[in-house]
Amino acid sequence: MTVFLTEVNSMPYTATECARARQDFPALARRHGEHTLAFLDGPGGTQVPNRVIDAISEGYRRCNVNVGGMFDTSLEVVEEVAKARHAIADFLGAPSPAEISFGPNMTTLNFALSHALARALVPGDEIVITQLDHEANRGPWLKLAERGCVVREVRLGPDGCLDPDNFARQVTSRTRIIAIGLASNSLGTVTALALARSLARMVGAWLVCDAVHYAAHFPLDVQALDCDFLLCSAYKFYGPHIGVLYSRPGLLDQLQTDCLRTQKQEAPYRIETGTLNHPTLMGVTAAIDYLATWGNGTTRRTQLLSAMGVLASYEHDLARYYASEVSKFPGVRIWGPPLDPGPRAPTVSITLEGIPATQAATHLASLGIQVWAGHFYAVRVLEAYDLVKDGLLRTGFAMYNTREEVDRLVQGLRQLVARASVAA
Ligand SMILES: Cc1ncc(COP(=O)(O)O)c(C=O)c1O
Repeated sequence: MTVFLTEVNSMPYTATECARARQDFPALARRHGEHTLAFLDGPGGTQVPNRVIDAISEGYRRCNVNVGGMFDTSLEVVEEVAKARHAIADFLGAPSPAEISFGPNMTTLNFALSHALARALVPGDEIVITQLDHEANRGPWLKLAERGCVVREVRLGPDGCLDPDNFARQVTSRTRIIAIGLASNSLGTVTALALARSLARMVGAWLVCDAVHYAAHFPLDVQALDCDFLLCSAYKFYGPHIGVLYSRPGLLDQLQTDCLRTQKQEAPYRIETGTLNHPTLMGVTAAIDYLATWGNGTTRRTQLLSAMGVLASYEHDLARYYASEVSKFPGVRIWGPPLDPGPRAPTVSITLEGIPATQAATHLASLGIQVWAGHFYAVRVLEAYDLVKDGLLRTGFAMYNTREEVDRLVQGLRQLVARASVAA
């Protein structure tokens, strides 16, 4: 996948900048007994900087009212929601804020999208999903089998990548939707979107991209990706819990969405049911503005491209360091494609022979180290690799993580492995 770095003149992001950034995240000062908490659980949701917390508080203090009123506070909320759409349009490289819809989270929005697309399908139409995806980009499509759609699944290869030949075989003249994640939240794989796009275009299918994991780690450009729909979630990139749907210009207006006759009928509103979480949307704008401060450029868009590029490289170095240290342990297996040459998300999942992932995560938690164990809702990956019983131990790196935290993690795992070998 191309990393979109046009017009970018990067400023550095090293341990020095990271130390500065850490001051912005109050949660990083939390302790567990004698240990400072190490938040190595970013793929499950990142911490938020003060700027985001302040923006949400300001929303509650200044204008906690609904849209549609004739009074100042209501007009201010309308303006704040528009600012959030604009911020996300800059983040994704969308042509305009009119392509950005919001919802409570990605899963809910994807169900809403699936309901809308389903109304354009007939029994026998086919949908292609993948074994690599999070259930949020499988479940809504699998449900359409109840309406007579045929759901086909692209196989995951032993290398942690989707099998390209199998992918091509799943797509037929009846394929109407290809739903694919850009990056795997369990294995860190960055998928071959060019293949998915060319197959979708060949048969005239809609291309739906889950960018929840990808958006946290790479610059995004929906126009260059040339996808029809793209979803992400702000809590994975230092913002609050808000789901985002980008729709190709004009496309959402053609769909029959679940919407009330009393609501705005045009895009981007027509897929937004009920009242949005307005103060939280102010936090979304703040998260995007915060990310932009770490990049160079003359516009927020170019600053974001620059920032995401340098953060990606910083996080990649941490992931590479961790992978190389942990690979020295006996009985360890790192799942997913190698970190180099990449592109690869900075998310590293391992198994340790004879030690279930929950046991490892519990031991690390006692040392103030937060990592995830299990399937992380990407359960099909674990089924494909027969790992459901013991699970994966997943570490994900964010802009505020440090090499010292990796050293603590490796040391904690070393203790555990040594103990297990004594007990054996
Ligand atoms: C790759 C991926 N897709 C989708 C989701 C679901 O996102 P949300 O929690 O916003 O519904 C997640 C959440 O972990 C994810 O990692």
